[in-house]
Amino acid sequence: MPEKPKNDLLGIRYLSAEQIQALYQLADRFWEVLQQPTRKVAALTGSTVALLFFESSTRTKLSFELAAKRLGADVLNFSATGSSLDKGETLLDTALNILAMGVDAFVVRHRGVGSAHFLAKHLPVPVINAGDGTHEHPTQALLDTYTLYRHFGRLEGLTLTIIGDLFHSRVALSHLHIAPKVGLSLRLCAPPSLIPALWYQLGYPIYTEVVPAVAGADAVLVLRMQKERQSYPPIASWQEYSRFYQLKPEHLRPGQVLLHPGPINWGVELHPALQAWPHTRILDQVTHGVAIRMAVLYWLLRG
Ligand code: NCD
Repeated sequence: MPEKPKNDLLGIRYLSAEQIQALYQLADRFWEVLQQPTRKVAALTGSTVALLFFESSTRTKLSFELAAKRLGADVLNFSATGSSLDKGETLLDTALNILAMGVDAFVVRHRGVGSAHFLAKHLPVPVINAGDGTHEHPTQALLDTYTLYRHFGRLEGLTLTIIGDLFHSRVALSHLHIAPKVGLSLRLCAPPSLIPALWYQLGYPIYTEVVPAVAGADAVLVLRMQKERQSYPPIASWQEYSRFYQLKPEHLRPGQVLLHPGPINWGVELHPALQAWPHTRILDQVTHGVAIRMAVLYWLLRG
């Protein structure tokens, strides 16, 4: 029997501009569903989605779970602590055993770069990358850009500045891939030690100071220091990081949209006074994340 063609979402780099637009359009439809009193459709009734999170998560895991449930699917929640990983079971054996219970799609977060690709190669059902180490986090870039699209009504021609730990952020890498496909102009800003050397060859404007990086941008996406992935402190002291790279209210002009994928370390990358910034869309990102993940699940399982 010929092998069934299988869809995965492993990274933005594998999506075409048309596929991204199709996902936004699907998200628009599911956004409407979420505004209805029942907030549910039966689009994935009978399907089962397994969430395999080997790294901490609040937003991504819960919003994938909610997205699957809002589509009528059943959800299996795997937790690495307390599992048979402690007894030496491998990632693939773990996934194959869960598959044997009758699972139609896997959502995977793992610290290993390429872990979702590895599982996708060996599993006969769709695999969605929910963050593989420092590599990609495709649904985060989709929901960030979808939030901008809903706010401005377009993406083409907008300028987005990303400030923070570019070196260790999978969110930043997914944005490098999505920006040219949706027409966003990207600016990057970080201390020199947190700018990957190869990124200077990509053609994006790179800044080591916040003021010029933010001036005139339509939106600013701030990233957390990914301390869990840093092998040495990238800056002499955290006070210095906050002094020179923290986004403060005086950096922003009315109308500039503030984004952050979360979790936020208030007082480190964002000044606490920005909690009151009128153009913040940080919680909208979380809300839109459910619609985007409904779109991704539906597209992979039924599209
Ligand atoms: C991001 C992640 O896990 O890469 N968070 C998220 O998915 N909401 C960013 C981060 O952890 O800083």
